[in-house]
Amino acid sequence: MRMYDLILKKRRGSALSTGEIAYLIGGVTDGSIPDPQISAFLMAVCFQGMTPEETVEFTLAMARSGEMADLSAIKAVKVDKHSTGGVGDKTTLAVAPIVAACGAAVAKMSGKGLGHTGGTVDKLASIPGFKTELLREDFIRIVNETGLCVVGQSGALAPADKKLYALRDVTGTVDSLPLIASSIMSKKLAAGADCILLDVKTGSGAFMKTAEESVELAKAMVAIGEGAGKKTAALITDMDRPLGFAVGNALEVMEAAETLKGNGPGDFYELCITLSAHMLLQAGKGTSYGECRNLAENAVASGAAFHKLCDMVTAQGGDASSLSDYAKLPRAAGVRQVPAPASGYVQAMDTAGWGTASVVLGAGRAKAGDAIDYGAGIMLRKKPGDYVNAGETVAELYTNDEKAFPDAERIALRALTVGAGKPAEKPLIYAKVDADGVEYF
Ligand code: URA
Repeated sequence: MRMYDLILKKRRGSALSTGEIAYLIGGVTDGSIPDPQISAFLMAVCFQGMTPEETVEFTLAMARSGEMADLSAIKAVKVDKHSTGGVGDKTTLAVAPIVAACGAAVAKMSGKGLGHTGGTVDKLASIPGFKTELLREDFIRIVNETGLCVVGQSGALAPADKKLYALRDVTGTVDSLPLIASSIMSKKLAAGADCILLDVKTGSGAFMKTAEESVELAKAMVAIGEGAGKKTAALITDMDRPLGFAVGNALEVMEAAETLKGNGPGDFYELCITLSAHMLLQAGKGTSYGECRNLAENAVASGAAFHKLCDMVTAQGGDASSLSDYAKLPRAAGVRQVPAPASGYVQAMDTAGWGTASVVLGAGRAKAGDAIDYGAGIMLRKKPGDYVNAGETVAELYTNDEKAFPDAERIALRALTVGAGKPAEKPLIYAKVDADGVEYF
């Protein structure tokens, strides 16, 4: 077999066979196929796409290119959740404890933040003492003892995807639907859960800017998961405004803890309950969405979910008292108010813009490897649909690097639209995609 022939085959629009995909991914993983040939192949996929069967084979080959997590020592049904990335998206911090409090297991590997989107591992790392890297046996033991454990993604997972993603990044081949879907799902399949719930974001802070595009991505990922024998579903959810009010690691930990104590922002609470209910339904903890929703709501109302979060933090070496005594969490020394430029209704908040402002303040990474200021970030005081008077505070910016304020404020104000007339309310959840098809809400 020659890579040259596979490039030509894809360029002409044909699907590769299982054997050809195995050859390709094998060569990507062991380095025997040169980068220019891999890049040419990726470009051909961008123009010609992949058939659904080909995408499943491609994903499985990438998943098997490295370590496949063996979670068989965990007795409960294991449910995983993956968000395609957002601003203020701290859902794992609340959803994992809710689901665990209802009897399903969450043995989760999460990523670091990059660009305008945050990462769960960074949020957890802001809790004093919390370990995001554990030995495999400790990871399994903690899930068996507490029902949940969240660690950073192992570098040994799906190495072929790592190589392909790095090449896609520099060859203009990131935004191909089969390449995005297979990249995300290869890591999810390698992570070993029984069921997968995908939170596919849509809007100005998301990969996919429209609900239609997000539904297409969700369909591709659900087809891959189901094709690989995993119960897989996706919700298409709003990322046209930041989620909740807090953006930034320790600030988001506080907001998640408050939500589990019953004091969270309405949009964030609703999304967490909806995601948890769907995960519980997948795990067979109830026979209907309504029943699972009641379980999730009760887990918050009874305090069981908050206790689960504390149990996980303690088991992973963190100081759980910081989830109530917030003075123990990192807090930036500098704070500056962002005043509304005019009176009127907040019409829109360009979410990627607010995410970029938080990166400038130090809460995220402009490039992989950058250091994080765990106390930095943004507390929004107004959201789309709220009325503001000129000069009134729209948001508070936090940083330990005072020089960052002017740029962050400029970016934040550019990402804010204030005008006359209350804007129409947008849905928080647009659609659900599963093996039965698409249901629009
Ligand atoms: N996240 C991934 O892991 N891969 C992509 O291709 C896009 C987002």
